Amino acid sequence: MGHYRMPILQDTGYAVLSPYQAVIDSSEWLSLEYVDWKSSGDTRFAPLASAQGQVECNGFWHASPPRADKDGVWIPSQVGKAPTLVQRARESGANVGRCRVIELQPNSYADAIYNSHLDDNNRLNPDGEGWVVRCFMQLTDDPNSVMVLREDVNDPQTETRIALPAGAQLVVDSERLWHSVWHVGDQPRACLITSLESGPELEKWIWERDPLCNVASAQLDEGFRAAELERAEQRRAARTAFYGYDPTGIRSQA
Ligand SMILES: [Fe+2]
Repeated sequence: MGHYRMPILQDTGYAVLSPYQAVIDSSEWLSLEYVDWKSSGDTRFAPLASAQGQVECNGFWHASPPRADKDGVWIPSQVGKAPTLVQRARESGANVGRCRVIELQPNSYADAIYNSHLDDNNRLNPDGEGWVVRCFMQLTDDPNSVMVLREDVNDPQTETRIALPAGAQLVVDSERLWHSVWHVGDQPRACLITSLESGPELEKWIWERDPLCNVASAQLDEGFRAAELERAEQRRAARTAFYGYDPTGIRSQA
């Protein structure tokens, strides 16, 4: 039978939504409790919902009993600090699994390609239920930073770069699309990341936000890009040689 997957993500694996218009006070994410958690790049995470309501970021398959990335337990000490973020995460009415703010330090385009990965969203997800996807909501205003999506991590032609001004929001099948962020500037980037179950609630919410499933990539000088890609590929090859296999073949636990 397989999982229920939303037709809107079928072609490209992502939908860019109209931006969130309201201003959110930065104290909502700056006052949260963060835990060090290795994801793609130099990151910290502030969980809002976790497997058992603790301030930790483990996949729900580590919970007792192990379960799918759904029915996240809201963390009281965090929710009290970030009511607007919680409201946004729950807005669609879809089942919410892991929900957290990610903080990413500035990096390079080569770093982003090196860090590109797939998420592990559907481990233990029962057959017949909705495929878990992720909603990314940009909090800091970083119009020159981009989310880098690739259908094939080894094919730069399959890349889409999506600019990240404050309020940018997109839903991504992040177990299908390779992804990472190239964040420029001198301050960290903050983004709300929520695991959501595919289904009619989420589809309705997406359709009400003028979704675009095929956006033009943010501009990038081709000479610069070629040099950065070469750096990234050299580092990826060295990493594969070090491990004896490509560790990005294992889905991210973050
Ligand atoms: Fe990811």
